[in-house]
Amino acid sequence: MCLLLLVSVVFFGLFSTGECVKFVDLQVPQIVDPRSEKILLYCNYDLAGKGLFSVNWFKEDDEFFRYMANPIPGKPPIVDAYNVNGIRVNLDESNDKLVVLQQHEGDKWANLGGSYACQVTAEGPKFDVNFDVANISVGVLPQRDPALEGLRTHYDVGDLLTAECTSAPSYPPAELSFHLNNIPAKKASTIQLPDEGDVEGTVVSTTRLGLSVSLQRHDFNAVGSLSLVCRSILPGIPGVKARETRAIVYLTTSNEKLAQEAITKFSSSGATASISTTGGGDSVTIKHNIFVVAETKIYSDD
Ligand SMILES: *[C@@H]1O[C@H](CO)[C@@H](O)[C@H](O)[C@H]1NC(C)=O
Repeated sequence: MCLLLLVSVVFFGLFSTGECVKFVDLQVPQIVDPRSEKILLYCNYDLAGKGLFSVNWFKEDDEFFRYMANPIPGKPPIVDAYNVNGIRVNLDESNDKLVVLQQHEGDKWANLGGSYACQVTAEGPKFDVNFDVANISVGVLPQRDPALEGLRTHYDVGDLLTAECTSAPSYPPAELSFHLNNIPAKKASTIQLPDEGDVEGTVVSTTRLGLSVSLQRHDFNAVGSLSLVCRSILPGIPGVKARETRAIVYLTTSNEKLAQEAITKFSSSGATASISTTGGGDSVTIKHNIFVVAETKIYSDD
């Protein structure tokens, strides 16, 4: 606490006697919708029985609001706001523990994102001081996972797999990526498509990404399936989880056909040992053989 106090003295260049205000706790919304009319910032504190001298609010290093508890004995507290990056404080609704930021029609919260500090000073003669900091990001989170479209359920080796992924509306626009079997798709196989669903006059927009890959046998696993994921992230907003949509597509070759191949290949190769190690019922044994031979096939075909 006292170390923090020292930092605060350096940070804000204020004088302090070195005693500690018990605590200051700044509570702000982590992510603010740029369309919201009001934003409430709370600064709770405990002066350990002392009286309040002032509460000062900073965005980065600039003071934008000040509450003076008792500047002139017998007079009401003084509240004051300073113009910082177009932040507007609603003075009527703000007090020593709450700052209300107000947005007017046509304003942009573009400058609202950043680091905030609330600094509390206890009354004299010592003027103990302490502060807390918190970050605000401006954003609108997507309300759904991205939509993955244009896929067939089955493909042959050599087929062109094409797909389109569209993010749910967000601010800032989402960044999309494709992942084949959990490996990021090569940039050359993706294409940024023109945004659609961009509603005029709103801050949110969608992003679209296309994928086009010529499928090889090794793109499918031993049972002939392939996993495709479209992932959507919001750039520049810390702590927001990626959203994902996953699709599984299959090699056209049916299990029966694979089994047929398996048996043929198996008897010709003469590697009978792997059957007897499987154990269990007949169906399990056969299934196992299909896997093994399918894998063998992958390597021999490549
Ligand atoms: C605020 O953001 C800055 C820069 O991204 C980071 O270094 C800092 O740790 C954050 N502070 C808090 C309280 O999250």
